[in-house]
Amino acid sequence: MKSIDVLLLSRKDIVGLMLTPGDVVSVVEEAMLEHAAGTYEMHPKIGVHPTGTDPANFIHAMPAYLHKLGACGLKWVAGFARNHQQGLPNVTGLQVYNDTATGIPLAIMDCSYLTGLRTAAVSAIAARRCARTSAETLALVGCGFEGTMHLRFLTTEIPTIREIRLRDVRDEAMATLREQAAAWFKGEIVLCADNQSCIDGADVISTCTNGDEQIIRPEWFKPGAFGVGIEGGCAYTPEALHQANKFVVDDVALAEYFERISRDRKTEDGQPDPEFPGGMPSIYATIGEIVAGKKRGRDSESERIIAIPIGMAICDIAVAHLAYHAAVSRGIGQSFQLA
Ligand SMILES: NC(=O)c1ccc[n+]([C@@H]2O[C@H](COP(=O)([O-])OP(=O)(O)OC[C@H]3O[C@@H](n4cnc5c(N)ncnc54)[C@H](O)[C@@H]3O)[C@@H](O)[C@H]2O)c1
Repeated sequence: MKSIDVLLLSRKDIVGLMLTPGDVVSVVEEAMLEHAAGTYEMHPKIGVHPTGTDPANFIHAMPAYLHKLGACGLKWVAGFARNHQQGLPNVTGLQVYNDTATGIPLAIMDCSYLTGLRTAAVSAIAARRCARTSAETLALVGCGFEGTMHLRFLTTEIPTIREIRLRDVRDEAMATLREQAAAWFKGEIVLCADNQSCIDGADVISTCTNGDEQIIRPEWFKPGAFGVGIEGGCAYTPEALHQANKFVVDDVALAEYFERISRDRKTEDGQPDPEFPGGMPSIYATIGEIVAGKKRGRDSESERIIAIPIGMAICDIAVAHLAYHAAVSRGIGQSFQLA
């Protein structure tokens, strides 16, 4: 019997691959096209919820298979928003990458950095097709790990952005992100003292918070704006969410599943905490349908469009596929003999 060697890739290894936004967007777009064509297998995330420190804690299992790309595997990912109190990341976990011909695990890698790449890529892919082509102002609320990734991807995919407005409840997070962004962004970067000064009138509104505050008010989300939220619809007031002319998700079954399981969810102080405040708006399209040209993105300068990507395992496996092949070709990572 042949031995089976599995490649181990740490977060440092994956960061060291220097995958560019262009590389990641391109492979995630392939996943989106497969989603629209139906050449994939994926299931709404199942999970466990060790709620000791926070009712919103989760660990999700996310298996995925992309037929044309030839990629399959499983992400086992935790989200514990209070981890920062212990100097630990919110999102952590493992990505297993399997061989589609034999089923053998080829690699086990850190999934936290990969998740940042894929989530920012999905938001940027949606933004490029749904934001106004003349979009100049980007509001980013939540300047943690995902916010940092989103800023890079959104400004790359929407090169017309001239002004970035940053908002976080932690001043140090805003200041750190401004310092980092100033190294590569040539326009203006404004730190905002409140939500209104960040969001009001912005062309593109990206929210990367922990979803514990309904930040976006309808009067600040002006005609022509595009919003993308990665905390479900939790960053929107019901009125702001439901005034969108087009409501877009990544996967209908995923969105419906999260809507259903969160209907009776409560915050620690007993307040209702549904994934979509006021219920889920009627879905216009998936991002994949827009990428594939089956549905149009923006039709007019005045439409308000909101995209809520819940997070698709097929996008994770596409980025893991990219990382695995880049690591093998550059000799990065360590192997261990599984059997
Ligand atoms: N949809 C997806 O595919 C997907 C993927 C990954 C992560 N997520 C979610 O994205 C969120 C952010 O993840 P992260 O890894 O960046 O976490 P993080 O803890 O690194 O960052 C969150 C940031 O939001 C800030 N914040 C919290 N509440 C705020 C508020 N009311 N106003 C302004 N800022 C606020 C925090 O101070 C922090 O800087 C989490 O909710 C996570 O579950 C979604």
